[in-house]
Amino acid sequence: MLDHPARTDNELDAWDRDHFFHPSTHMGQHARGETSNRIIAGGEGVYIVDRDGKRSLDAFAGLYCVNVGYGRKAITDAIAEQAARLPYYHAYVGHGSEPSIRLAKMVVERAPKGMSRVFFGLSGSDANETNLKLVWYYNNVLKRPEKKKIISRWRGYHGSGVMTGSLTGLAAFHNLFDLPKAPVLHTEAPYYYRREDRSLSEEQFSQHCADKLEELIQAEGPDTIAAFIGEPVLGTGGIVPPPAGYWAKIQAVLRKHDILLIADEVVTGFGRLGSMFGSDHYGIEPDLITIAKGLTSAYAPLSGVIVSEKLWRVLEQGSDEYGPIGHGWTYSSHPLCAAAGVANLELVDELDLVRNAGEVGAYFNAALREAVGSHRHVGEVRGKGLLAAVEFVRDRDDRVFFDASQKVGPRIAAALLEQGVIARAMPQGDILGFAPPLCLTKQEADLVVDATRRAVEAAL
Ligand SMILES: Cc1ncc(COP(=O)(O)O)c(C=O)c1O
Repeated sequence: MLDHPARTDNELDAWDRDHFFHPSTHMGQHARGETSNRIIAGGEGVYIVDRDGKRSLDAFAGLYCVNVGYGRKAITDAIAEQAARLPYYHAYVGHGSEPSIRLAKMVVERAPKGMSRVFFGLSGSDANETNLKLVWYYNNVLKRPEKKKIISRWRGYHGSGVMTGSLTGLAAFHNLFDLPKAPVLHTEAPYYYRREDRSLSEEQFSQHCADKLEELIQAEGPDTIAAFIGEPVLGTGGIVPPPAGYWAKIQAVLRKHDILLIADEVVTGFGRLGSMFGSDHYGIEPDLITIAKGLTSAYAPLSGVIVSEKLWRVLEQGSDEYGPIGHGWTYSSHPLCAAAGVANLELVDELDLVRNAGEVGAYFNAALREAVGSHRHVGEVRGKGLLAAVEFVRDRDDRVFFDASQKVGPRIAAALLEQGVIARAMPQGDILGFAPPLCLTKQEADLVVDATRRAVEAAL
């Protein structure tokens, strides 16, 4: 399967420089050919191979999405069969296709308790856009037109649309785009390692985060706050598991003020933490759950919003009073993507990948800590399940960070790639992130850890 002929197609390279607008890329450097490009040609298991025949162990599963690994014929066959039978029909006005109905049932069966319906979209961003609209619709049906503001966290990542980019709490996604837009507000990130007051215990820091949230709600007026959105584990903001007690304390504040909770499980949904959902893992009881990535393992673009019974009852009331809901995309619950989703979730069960993520994840995190945890430039090694991060600092004892201009994170990621392993330099801070496919074996975990040790030594 990996026998792609090694070739260098200079014409393709020129077209890439001249015509392809890449996301999250330095546009000028890419266009001028100052930075390398990489054209991926195939994949098998946890490996990808580029057009030059160079093979890399993908320890970030694409963008933490190829959870079952590459080259799964069960999924590609399911897509091909659905394409031959019915490539497309819409889902408006009660229409549907068998895979989308089947997939909705499978998702609700796997979801935390209290969940009722699934609305399908195409990306995590559009699913969060749907969430915001549902929250506003809900409060309008309940005749609370003032209750519309949404609280997100600094370092949260919820997409890069106008509203979802506003929810995102990372500077690079706001700067020059005139974001964030009202009515989005941001509160403290649950980032224990970077806490200002280093004397606080984890529990105390969680209380501090809950107090900050309460303060913000009081300053704005509880009757103006509609929802709080958060990832069970901060992802793109640095791969940061929450400090002890965080979610219980946050939920107590939200309940007190009748504020809805949106759990953004785009990364954590379908097994990454070693539990089917991160909400199960941390005792989160959400009103809405965002899903994408692991829903199809990215074999086709599909996202969703899982709606709780509590919310659904009000949405039904809304359409009884005001008519059909005016929301949907042409490609909502696209049959090809839904077929991929059904085959993918079946494979997750068949291969017991949720358990594997927990077991190999614990092994991988421990081995990573052992390998680089005491290096003088490593401030913290952290993770949960098959999510892990190494944070680099100039001075470990005084927790002094490197200057961003030194690009320490990207340099270490580049050194690791030299060793044949892909990890991600997270966008804010010198943080090397790992999120390998959930089918990773212990032997493959060892390869990643050994390569990381060598890369850190080489780059620092
Ligand atoms: C937690 C979370 N939410 C939402 C998104 C946005 O998803 P998409 O890139 O599919 O729009 C991402 C993407 O990485 C994510 O990590």
